Amino acid sequence: MMRRNISISNFHIVLITQTGVIYYFMETFSKNKVYVTRKIPEPGPSILNKYFQANMNPEADILDRDTLLENVKNVDALICMLGDKVDSNVMDAAGPNLKIISCYSVGYDHVDIYEATKRKIIVTNTPNVLANTTADLTFSLILSAARNIVNADRHVRIGNWESGWSPDLFLGYDVNGSTLGIIGLGEIGTLVAKRARGFDMQVIYYSKTRKRQMESELDITFVPLEELLRRSDFVSIHVLLNKDSFHMIDESKIKLMKKTAFIINTSRGQVINEQHLINALRNKVIAGAGLDVYESEPISSSNPLTQFAQTVLLPHIGSATFKTRSKMAEVAANNIVNFFNGRGIVHKIN
Ligand code: DGY
Repeated sequence: MMRRNISISNFHIVLITQTGVIYYFMETFSKNKVYVTRKIPEPGPSILNKYFQANMNPEADILDRDTLLENVKNVDALICMLGDKVDSNVMDAAGPNLKIISCYSVGYDHVDIYEATKRKIIVTNTPNVLANTTADLTFSLILSAARNIVNADRHVRIGNWESGWSPDLFLGYDVNGSTLGIIGLGEIGTLVAKRARGFDMQVIYYSKTRKRQMESELDITFVPLEELLRRSDFVSIHVLLNKDSFHMIDESKIKLMKKTAFIINTSRGQVINEQHLINALRNKVIAGAGLDVYESEPISSSNPLTQFAQTVLLPHIGSATFKTRSKMAEVAANNIVNFFNGRGIVHKIN
């Protein structure tokens, strides 16, 4: 029997020849340490355990800062998620071995990308897998806000539905045939536009870069941001948070919207100046809002947004389905595996 060890990066492949047959298997001796800041679903943990010395916070709850700083010590790779502020302090606490930060999310505004890049630490995310799920949730916010779904449900539950059908009970706004304005035509924005076709909506969009091919494929029209705000019945936000998009929607922009229009946000809360939105809702400048994200999360029940009947408020659940969270775990884990073995896709963002 001939036995040969070939080391590929941190992996060992053992080739065994026996009566002309070649068997190979991957040994899982890797000494690389991975830490996962909050419990993620399978197959994430199994993938990591197969190849690394992996440790995971057994709870889905966020770690307090001191525990996070302690637990990342000497790791080679980190899986982090929204709410973890991965800044220079975390990178210092991890130490010089840290080579990759894998975000269990498509958004990466919780990681200091500048600092990571300076230290030659790769940052990755989980694109593709959550786009359809988030587009679905965007549409449920459009429908719920326009048709009073949440208020009407509460009305039934608390026993207020006393007079049967009524000509003016929970009158709302039509989604079908209305104009949808999409801000940011990335993956999620595009999938929202696709869904809008089923509702015979006219779709206009604004994006930093114009996507001419999409315009003909989806029958959508590029317009400047101001025009989009003036014309839309529903304005749906799908941009990444960065210095250009921070407070992109403020008082001056909200004022351009129709009194009967709704603003929908499933991207990042800081894209809207929340105080300006609250003022606009209070003064009935627009008809309502469907929000999955907020300037600071979680919001408390005393946040003025909760006082309005014309808001639908969700606790940042855009990608929250069993299937999608599992896919995200797989991609986040494989980003690390592929990075160390030098093969396969690594969704790098820096
Ligand atoms: C993301 O991935 O950025 C979402 O906000 C959470 O899944």
